[in-house]
Amino acid sequence: MARLKLGVLVSGRGSNLQALIDACRDPAFPAEVALVVSNVAGAPALERARAAGVPSETIPHRGFPSRAAFDAAVDGRLRTAGVGLVCLAGFMRLFTPEFVAGWRDRMLNIHPSLLPAFPGLDPHGQAIAAGVRISGCTVHLVRAAMDCGPIVVQAAVPVLPADTPESLGARVLAAEHRAYPLAVRLFAEGRVRVAGESVTIDGADWDAAPTLLCPAGP
Ligand code: GRF
Repeated sequence: MARLKLGVLVSGRGSNLQALIDACRDPAFPAEVALVVSNVAGAPALERARAAGVPSETIPHRGFPSRAAFDAAVDGRLRTAGVGLVCLAGFMRLFTPEFVAGWRDRMLNIHPSLLPAFPGLDPHGQAIAAGVRISGCTVHLVRAAMDCGPIVVQAAVPVLPADTPESLGARVLAAEHRAYPLAVRLFAEGRVRVAGESVTIDGADWDAAPTLLCPAGP
């Protein structure tokens, strides 16, 4: 069976890109990374793509007269590469509503909080300041507004009393690296159904879903 072609958009470190590349190494995984696009020249993510032998390109947004012109260039590259699913993985630019509409229900983002809590910047600092006991990450279909859209996968981690944004971020990042490949697999298997603004997963065994363990003790 043909594998779903992923277009992964990055701006920085690329650890989620790496998780997707690693998942795609399994011949049984139903997707492959067809193209990586960075809007930032020299982003470490580009080196990860190169090391994995995945085609990559830099499209610097500063070189374009408008947001629409940049978006059109990215759109053209994704379509030429035959991309069927766009994965935003630490891509630090908002797209125009036109670009988002063109990839409606075929574009995922990952955000390091349990949305709709703590969208935007510094989600780990926000979580600690709010005193929540549980945080995590969310993989969602992209809508025009930032960090919102139908949720495909969430993974939860505990927030510990001594956590800093950095320590919580590291715990959440490990969860991200499991959640993103899972969401892509579900999508590629055709099991993600969008009804209104929520997602159902065909054939999901919710009884076997993991339960978050809260601290035991006196
Ligand atoms: C991740 O925490 C992701 O959730 C957020 O940006 C970060 C990107 O990290 N959107 P990386 O570049 O994938 O390592």
